[in-house]
Amino acid sequence: MYIIGGTASKTVAEDLSKSLDATLARTIIKRFPDNELYVCISDDISGEDVIIVQTTYPDPNIVELFLLQDAVKEAGAKRITVVIPYFGYGRQDKKFKNGESISAKAIAKLISLNADEVITVDPHKEHILDFFSIPASSCSAVPELAKYMKKKNIDLVLAPDKGALNLAKQASSIINCDFDYMEKNRINDKTIEIKPKNLDVHNKNVTIIDDIISTGGTMAKSIDELKKQGANKIFVECTHGLFAGEAIKHLYSAGCSGIISTDTIKSEYSKVKIAPSISQWIESKQV
Ligand code: R5P
Repeated sequence: MYIIGGTASKTVAEDLSKSLDATLARTIIKRFPDNELYVCISDDISGEDVIIVQTTYPDPNIVELFLLQDAVKEAGAKRITVVIPYFGYGRQDKKFKNGESISAKAIAKLISLNADEVITVDPHKEHILDFFSIPASSCSAVPELAKYMKKKNIDLVLAPDKGALNLAKQASSIINCDFDYMEKNRINDKTIEIKPKNLDVHNKNVTIIDDIISTGGTMAKSIDELKKQGANKIFVECTHGLFAGEAIKHLYSAGCSGIISTDTIKSEYSKVKIAPSISQWIESKQV
């Protein structure tokens, strides 16, 4: 079995090649003077099972994935699995008004053209998987995030909205503490409000867990509310740390004690590796 790492997911691919005992294929990925992309698989992968690992964010990484898939197909691989640590465009998962593209579906359809199977991590909504026309499944980073948070004396795991309640519940069972959720109302893509809700957080160490931190608005508003209610330390953790614009500044200004994400999108806050979650999932499917 060969693993091919795209530019966005080189470390995850290297980690997977070790845990799955597969060969990391050599590639040439470079840009022409006009900035168009060139990809080439240097190893002979003809007749082999190949796993391509590539986060589809930001946009150039999507084109790179398409070219890698094409190169692997052209090279005669037996089976192509695409592992997408972070599936970008997942949040436009329906038409919110007429005339819009269902972006998640558009990208999923194109990825399905040159693959036999797709695996992703904590998709924004589970039904996104149905947009692929090939078998698609997901694993969760929550157990690994929770294992990391276990060292921080957490009293309560909170979801910033009801949609993330399952993540909080799952994490709390590993940390061995309580869980609850906050009430969020999204006004537009940049503005949200967190409705006050009485939580038993006085002097407690709290971690707020979500699938994505983008602008940090959801987390910053949640921290504000928890501070008002007398929480002690407040950590924020997520699977996919996009940290758009001034997200980090907003989080620390709100009084955050620590920011933790996985390396589905690599940053200095990637304290938790995603490869163990993905390799366990792949191995469990092969049994
Ligand atoms: C939305 O439902 C997601 O789970 C996240 O809460 C959201 O994407 C976070 O966005 P932001 O950081 O911009 O508030």
